[in-house]
Amino acid sequence: MALELVDKLGRRLTYVRISVTDRCNFRCRYCMPAQGVEWIPHDRIMRYEEIELLVGILTELGVKKIRLTGGEPFVRKGIPQFLRTLRRLFPELELAVTTNASLLANYIDNIKDLNINLNISLDTLDPDKFKDITRVGNLDDVLKGISMWSGLGLPFKVNTVLIKGFNEDEIRPLAEFARKMGGVLRFIEFMPLDRSVWSQDSFIPASSIEDLIFSSGDWKELENKTTDTDGPARYFVDLKTGQKIGVIAAVSHHFCETCNRLRITASGELKNCLFASGGVDLLSPLRAGDLDEVKHRILLASWDKPENWKKQISGDRHMSQIGG
Ligand code: GTP
Ligand code: 5AD
Ligand code: SF4
Repeated sequence: MALELVDKLGRRLTYVRISVTDRCNFRCRYCMPAQGVEWIPHDRIMRYEEIELLVGILTELGVKKIRLTGGEPFVRKGIPQFLRTLRRLFPELELAVTTNASLLANYIDNIKDLNINLNISLDTLDPDKFKDITRVGNLDDVLKGISMWSGLGLPFKVNTVLIKGFNEDEIRPLAEFARKMGGVLRFIEFMPLDRSVWSQDSFIPASSIEDLIFSSGDWKELENKTTDTDGPARYFVDLKTGQKIGVIAAVSHHFCETCNRLRITASGELKNCLFASGGVDLLSPLRAGDLDEVKHRILLASWDKPENWKKQISGDRHMSQIGG
């Protein structure tokens, strides 16, 4: 039987998040400091051909879904062509991208036929608040990207990090917006990765999020997981309107028990947990052409996936460096 990625607790790892760049054109307060972070030098960033090799190894090991993350994936030159190459090389692969959508409008024509599972980050519909949370972003660019994507009838999800005192009053407008655009909205608990911006006071637990959203309407929770490549969201459907909304209880309710994923940073470091402080270097063996060693390292790190993140959290890292 072919080798598969399984950890010592029996969890099958079929979903890998690959960060294609640590850079971003936004500076979201909850994600990175105003000055940005110290960027990884270019020669330490995985080249596209290296990522292709890696994806080849991962698919051989039973990985079914690859999500490209950043920073912001579309700030990296050549991403649309790279997506096209991945689609050609791996026609069966579930290909996903998480983006802030600010550059999406420029690239839609090049990627609209690639069957991409697209998640778009959007925390507010108020232009001033948008500028405030992203520090530099322009809401209109994002809305243009979303409306063009939606205009083509392509599916997408919207990720909203809920922050007390910032956007909990926008739950309904955001839900209405997503409904009109035909996207699935997901509210995410604010995770304490970077304690310089996170505080208990700004945290809204999923239970309160659910109270706020589902107090009106006729909501019913959907089956937790439909496929083994699903991410951590729980989904609810309004039986009256058919609208689907997700909640990602990243902090309060753990999905660690059923976690199915690995992460690879833009410099080719394999992390077996979002909160893992260290990682395994895949770039050196990749560059040395030693693909057996790459495979060996992936298998070992997978086996060693931590049971949960509680003991690992350090609160001194920025989300943009890991890819969410
Ligand atoms: P799909 O299910 O494919 O839509 O992907 P996803 O929800 O895993 O991906 P996305 O990039 O949209 O991430 C949504 C939120 O979930 C982000 O805030 C991520 O940081 C968070 N998230 C994703 N994976 C994990 C995880 O393994 N653990 C925790 N705690 N949070 C995660
Ligand atoms: N807590 C929760 N979600 C976060 N994201 C970035 N930082 C945090 C955080 N501290 C989200 C972004 C994006 C996804 C990849 O991660 O909003 O949608
Ligand atoms: Fe960029 Fe996304 Fe981080 Fe905002 S949350 S700075 S858009 S990577």
